[in-house]
Amino acid sequence: MQINIQNLEHRYQAKTPFERVALYDVDMEIADGSYSAVIGHTGSGKSTLLQHLNGLLRPFKGTIQIGNFTLKASEKEKNIKALRKKVGVVFQFPEHQLFEETVERDICFGPINFGVSEEEAKKRARAALKLVGLPEKYLESSPFDLSGGQMRRVAIAGVLAMEPEVLVLDEPTAGLDPRGRKEIMDLFYSLHKEKNLTTILVTHSMEDAAMYADSIYVMHNGTVGMKGTPREIFSNPEEIQRFGLDVPETVLFMKKLEDRLGRNFGGICLTIDEAAEAIASMVQEGEGQHE
Ligand SMILES: Nc1ncnc2c1ncn2[C@@H]1O[C@H](COP(=O)(O)OP(=O)(O)OP(=O)(O)O)[C@@H](O)[C@H]1O
Ligand SMILES: [Mg+2]
Repeated sequence: MQINIQNLEHRYQAKTPFERVALYDVDMEIADGSYSAVIGHTGSGKSTLLQHLNGLLRPFKGTIQIGNFTLKASEKEKNIKALRKKVGVVFQFPEHQLFEETVERDICFGPINFGVSEEEAKKRARAALKLVGLPEKYLESSPFDLSGGQMRRVAIAGVLAMEPEVLVLDEPTAGLDPRGRKEIMDLFYSLHKEKNLTTILVTHSMEDAAMYADSIYVMHNGTVGMKGTPREIFSNPEEIQRFGLDVPETVLFMKKLEDRLGRNFGGICLTIDEAAEAIASMVQEGEGQHE
């Protein structure tokens, strides 16, 4: 689904002495089927922005168009339930929202709430649990007998079982071990491709933003400070550091190597694979010259 955000503003505790502008002048154009990363220092407004995408927060000013749905300050979107069916959100620490007696019932809760039959919901629960890499026997377990990482997977399965068209992810892997992080990020990426989802990821990992996203938005003090492709965003370390962020480690490493060798690789390497490729061709070139 195409998403257009125009001139979005959000204030917390509006019209009270504690009023706080959390977002202003936010413009974004997110193409159907694209993968966008939203990065930015803590408190820059990332979570506030995401909570607008399924109508959890209402704009104070501006408009959000998601497919045929329109969210704006002046009027209530009548079809908020239909919107929430299409836009799946994995919030920060989604396991805090588990509440049912069994894993199966927890995963089925969303689909049933949105009118899916019990039989179909159970089928989806089984499939979703498999997708997130948990054995079927857990369907009968209490979610509270699982480890934190397993609970996270159950919560994610609950979102996937809704079969959303837009996937909104707010630091979905925070607090997981490295292997779990990679498994979950790869899962989201393969679903994104397979089901042609429109994915929006908030992350503090510059590596994940570089690896998965087509476009990156840099949030800064409540507005978009910079946007571009990962290559555009990370080609300029000084600029990104102005926003309190850094470039991926691989980009830093390759810059150091360029300085040490006094040569230029002709563009940045965003991932370990790209760096390995660039170094290998340099070494092979060198060997060629020796022969
Ligand atoms: N419920 C709330 N009431 C009042 N102010 C809030 C509320 N939630 C967030 N804020 C404020 O709004 C601003 C943006 O917060 P937000 O949670 O969107 O930031 P974030 O970019 O997601 O940060 P983080 O990286 O730490 O998750 C911050 O200044 C924060 O203090
Ligand atoms: Mg946040």
